[in-house]
Amino acid sequence: MTASTDARALLAELTGDAACTGTWSAPGRANLIGEHTDYNDGFALPFAIDRRTVAAVRVRDDARIRVASTAAPAPVEVAIDDLDGLFALPPAERGLPEWAGYPLGVAWALRRTAATARIGVEIALASDVPVGSGLSSSAAIEGAVAFALNDVWRADLTPVQLARVGRLAENEAVGAPTGIMDQMASFCGQQDAAILLDCRTLDVRPIDLGFAAAGLEVLVIDTRVEHSHADGGYADRRAACERGAATLGVPALRDLTSDDLPRAAELLDETTFRRVRHVVTENQRVLDTVARLAADGARAIGDLLTASHASLRDDFEVSCPELDTAVDAALAAGALGARMTGGGFGGCAIALVDADRASQVADAAVQAFAASGFAPPRVFTVHPSAGARSDRSPAIDSVEA
Ligand code: GLA
Repeated sequence: MTASTDARALLAELTGDAACTGTWSAPGRANLIGEHTDYNDGFALPFAIDRRTVAAVRVRDDARIRVASTAAPAPVEVAIDDLDGLFALPPAERGLPEWAGYPLGVAWALRRTAATARIGVEIALASDVPVGSGLSSSAAIEGAVAFALNDVWRADLTPVQLARVGRLAENEAVGAPTGIMDQMASFCGQQDAAILLDCRTLDVRPIDLGFAAAGLEVLVIDTRVEHSHADGGYADRRAACERGAATLGVPALRDLTSDDLPRAAELLDETTFRRVRHVVTENQRVLDTVARLAADGARAIGDLLTASHASLRDDFEVSCPELDTAVDAALAAGALGARMTGGGFGGCAIALVDADRASQVADAAVQAFAASGFAPPRVFTVHPSAGARSDRSPAIDSVEA
């Protein structure tokens, strides 16, 4: 069963018949390079993956929203007019299961951002993006719901404006102080390409990856160590970056280059300096990756990916033993480059591998995990895919506001 079939089946179960106003979907993402740069106004090079969350939606004739997920036992219902009051409460007092904060948070954030029609909806969610693994299952939910409500509520926002809505939901409704890279990758992704994202201007440039033509695959090694960016580690790194920028007198770390690092070393404590050095060198690695892809092709970027991992492990300290094991095993088995992807503290590593060595690299990772006494990783390939989209039925145009 596909996520789309599952979402429609759940909607039918919820409403008692098969009528569906339309389906909308959004992908997870892998970040090729550019980690912890987004909230520093920097650069990132993510791509949307071929795993998606689907929202099957049906309009209802009152002004209430009901959300259900194949991953959760019970649906959650709230009046549209109560969203403001609900999200004004501290999370513990909302009486919401954690997952429902994402779709309802998007509904709340969309109404805070744009003039919207007040139309009740049933939303049934199904997904094949692994949850909590650093492939942005949360941005995929946000995208499916944001694109659906944007159409049904006639908010008329662009994908970039919807990415801001997704980030607002995640920051304020869920309480995770994340940047905008995940939403931009999921909402603006392009088939067979990565996007070069300028997180200051939110300009997006498609970058042809040419992996298939070069005989390469991206292997994901999911450590199955769950992480949450609402925990302290992510916020702590973000605060260190902001402190570094303030001490060095720049609006954001984006405004520094490696020429500024000697001065940074003088002015900052040792830990903050290493956090800053990661961001400064990582921004440059993103630009170098784009240049090398154009000049020398996909086979030439492996060492940049691996250098990114070393910087995240040693300077930014957001890796973990399982991620390091995945990266080391992949490289030892012949990967061209490998790194953790996403926020870290668990989740996934990616490895750039020759297609005909992919199963060898996957086996090597599984064996290395067993030798270290870790639970077996999940290993699979991902392909750069299209971003969020609507698959709306014509019925939607006749819905009365
Ligand atoms: C998480 C966040 C993103 C980004 C990455 C690290 O995925 O949601 O905004 O900061 O971590 O690059």
